Amino acid sequence: MNRNKLANRYPRATEILEEMKDSIKDGIIPIGIFNDEEIYQMEIEQIFGRKWIFLGHESEIPEQGDYVLRYIGEDPFIVARDESGEINVMLDACCHRGVRICKAEQGNTSHFRCPYHGWIYKNNGKLIGMPAQRQAYNDLNKEDWGLIHIRLEIYHGFIFGCLSQDTPPLETYLADQKYYLDMLFGLHKGGVEVLAEPQRWVVNANWKLAAENFSGDDYHLIFLHHSASDIGATPYSMFENMKGYHIHAGNGHCVSIALERDQDGSKTEFPYWNFPKDIYKTFDLDSLDEKQKEIVRDSKEMLGNIYPNSSFLVMSVTSDQQSEPVPFFSIRQWRPLGPDKIEIWNWMFMYKDTPEQFKQDSYRAGMTNFSMSGIFEMDDTLTWETATWTAGNHFSKKNLKLNYQMGMYRMGTAEVDDKWPGPGKAYYPRYGEGNQRYLYTSYLRDMLGEEKDQEGAEIKQDGKDYSKSISR
Ligand code: FES
Ligand SMILES: [Fe+2]
Repeated sequence: MNRNKLANRYPRATEILEEMKDSIKDGIIPIGIFNDEEIYQMEIEQIFGRKWIFLGHESEIPEQGDYVLRYIGEDPFIVARDESGEINVMLDACCHRGVRICKAEQGNTSHFRCPYHGWIYKNNGKLIGMPAQRQAYNDLNKEDWGLIHIRLEIYHGFIFGCLSQDTPPLETYLADQKYYLDMLFGLHKGGVEVLAEPQRWVVNANWKLAAENFSGDDYHLIFLHHSASDIGATPYSMFENMKGYHIHAGNGHCVSIALERDQDGSKTEFPYWNFPKDIYKTFDLDSLDEKQKEIVRDSKEMLGNIYPNSSFLVMSVTSDQQSEPVPFFSIRQWRPLGPDKIEIWNWMFMYKDTPEQFKQDSYRAGMTNFSMSGIFEMDDTLTWETATWTAGNHFSKKNLKLNYQMGMYRMGTAEVDDKWPGPGKAYYPRYGEGNQRYLYTSYLRDMLGEEKDQEGAEIKQDGKDYSKSISR
């Protein structure tokens, strides 16, 4: 949508965001963007309507007929494996009156039947029949009235859906983030698998606060999470953990890696994210280039955000402060339920071809620390809730400007490291808020419908036109 149309449809939101476009250059963000109905409606259209959104993983629906129910913005989609083994992502809405046809969060079925008048759809979305078909519809062309399919693409088994026909393919969209995802999920020949169905729960917070936290808010580790660290949840202190990199990975994607380097090169006591040796010696390092190998070897923790609202984390923690810390993989979706509410979706993964006992240990460690009742998670969500509440209050909304300046104007110690071996602009150490500014610069570009790059926000497009009509 062009700028004028956007300004007409969302006048107040556009005004706030135009001001933010100037203020973010000084590291200033108005708190109002974190709890505002008009901005939220604009996000649904400009962000969730146009980006690749994480929906789930192939291993959640391994058999023909398996399905899960997932969301992009507010719209529900059935992600189903059909009889030919293909995955389809289809709007959960009957074409007769729009009634929802999928009654469970997951399951296995050959058909979905609408509860209202009984139209029947195959698990590939084709309409195949209805009650009293001859008397009621006679010549209706059922081919024209299947479920609406949306674009879907898969990377390392992770399924993404996109509502726009104009967005470039997923791999172009992921840009340099691919390089870092390959390091995490591509170095075991059997790939990763989900360890359980996702845990999900509602938090009264704005989705951007979660996305920016996982983009590289490592500063909060040393205060908010010091109690978890003090009781021995992690094998290292949170201050030590600040030695590492913040990376702008293209198109608003961010990465944060705890990794120590000195003039002689890299060093860490916790190589390969602290995976036990008998696991990391099974890593397929041949799948990586020399620079990736170096980064993987020296990483003790890694997290990031796949713009806009999916995050990943690999970190080593103990499940009971007694047993050895082990790494876990958590993938998140911060599903917006309004300007002040998210449903957190939390999947735990592990390499498929690792021992069952290790998978169980990893799952327990992850869930004890990062889940609805996790000792890290409870710290985080409480702060996101009060920030969102503040953002909705009359006086704060108008007057409170937030400081995102760490790393600017000689504040903080983060500086660009030209010697970083991987792609993307990298800053060392993790005392900086450059990733958050990068995230919001990309966000502003998308919200205001700008084609032109702004400072710090790369646009990686391949210049092709992906327009095609909606398929059924
Ligand atoms: S609304 Fe679905 S069959 Fe009528
Ligand atoms: Fe946290």
